[in-house]
Amino acid sequence: MNLLAIESSCDECSAAVLEDGDLKSVVISSQLIHSEYGGVVPELASRAHMELIVPVVEESLKKASISKDAIESVAVTYGPGLAGSLIVGISFAKAFASSMGIPVVGVNHMEGHLYSAFLEEEKPEFPFVALVVSGGHSMLIHVRAPFTHELLGQTRDDAAGEAFDKVAKLLGLGYPGGPVIDKLAKEGDPKAFKFPRAFMDGDSFEFSFSGIKTSVLYLLRELNYDPEKPDEKLVRDICASFQAAVIDVLVAKTTNAARKFGVRSIVVAGGVAANRGLRTALQASAETAGARVFFPRPLYCTDNAAMIGIAAHFKYLKTGLVTDLTLKPTPNLALSF
Ligand code: KG4
Ligand code: ZN
Repeated sequence: MNLLAIESSCDECSAAVLEDGDLKSVVISSQLIHSEYGGVVPELASRAHMELIVPVVEESLKKASISKDAIESVAVTYGPGLAGSLIVGISFAKAFASSMGIPVVGVNHMEGHLYSAFLEEEKPEFPFVALVVSGGHSMLIHVRAPFTHELLGQTRDDAAGEAFDKVAKLLGLGYPGGPVIDKLAKEGDPKAFKFPRAFMDGDSFEFSFSGIKTSVLYLLRELNYDPEKPDEKLVRDICASFQAAVIDVLVAKTTNAARKFGVRSIVVAGGVAANRGLRTALQASAETAGARVFFPRPLYCTDNAAMIGIAAHFKYLKTGLVTDLTLKPTPNLALSF
């Protein structure tokens, strides 16, 4: 079945074409305008989606060498995300599906991240443990079978990616913070500063990252840090020490979960899964639990429509071809279990 997938929940406008779960094309247009403001501006994001959605979909069809008449179903993110951004993708998907007389299915954005590793040639095996770490979420999930999953724990405050973005902002490094901290951390000393690691005792799968961010803030105040005149060595050391604290927590909890449930596969997804340090540390730690780690390539880790398409494919395997023309944006959509 030829499926058109659409993702517009935040600042990425993306479309993808899949045939029976095989990715034929994906187009991602990132809205660069937000970097000037140090974060996503919802009003600008929805306006940009309106301009981008038609050319992005056309480009995805062209890249897949498929005509729109050959599309048999449409999948679209309906939450969680920004209401104004979600509505653009959903309106387009519903209009496209009803004009073509084909089904439209809503996909939870987090389920997209959860199944993104299946876009790769080498696929994880069920059951697996998934760590989904993005700008909005940090979750550990036990996936027993396709679309049968259980939330083990999530963040009580900031998401992991949010902590990267906030620390980068404190250091004057711009937005998004993850990629730049990742790069600078490689050249810094991870032991230069000791930042807190929360909920590390027992087998809690809850996360908390706001304490690390606050510690960085206090340190910078103490040092009278001026982002206009940064001390490069200090910045590299703070990045390395901050990143080490976040990674220690993510790696320990994910490995504990893999051990507890005896799974052989671990999936890491969401924007923070692109982090080089996390990849290396988790690979080494997972081996001690007899598990293999599956990281989607960075392009599939950050927001994209290919992951929405593969999640829809798994959903269809469970529910059959369903359609929902009453689909509406659901900004606080929770993961269903
Ligand atoms: O999944 P995503 O594209 O969007 C959300 O759904 O939030 O994730 C974006 C987040 C941002 O917070 C960004 O700073 C973070 O992922 N990120 C990274 C890296 N690349 C992106 N964090 C750490 N290291 C990276 N290399
Ligand atoms: Zn995301």
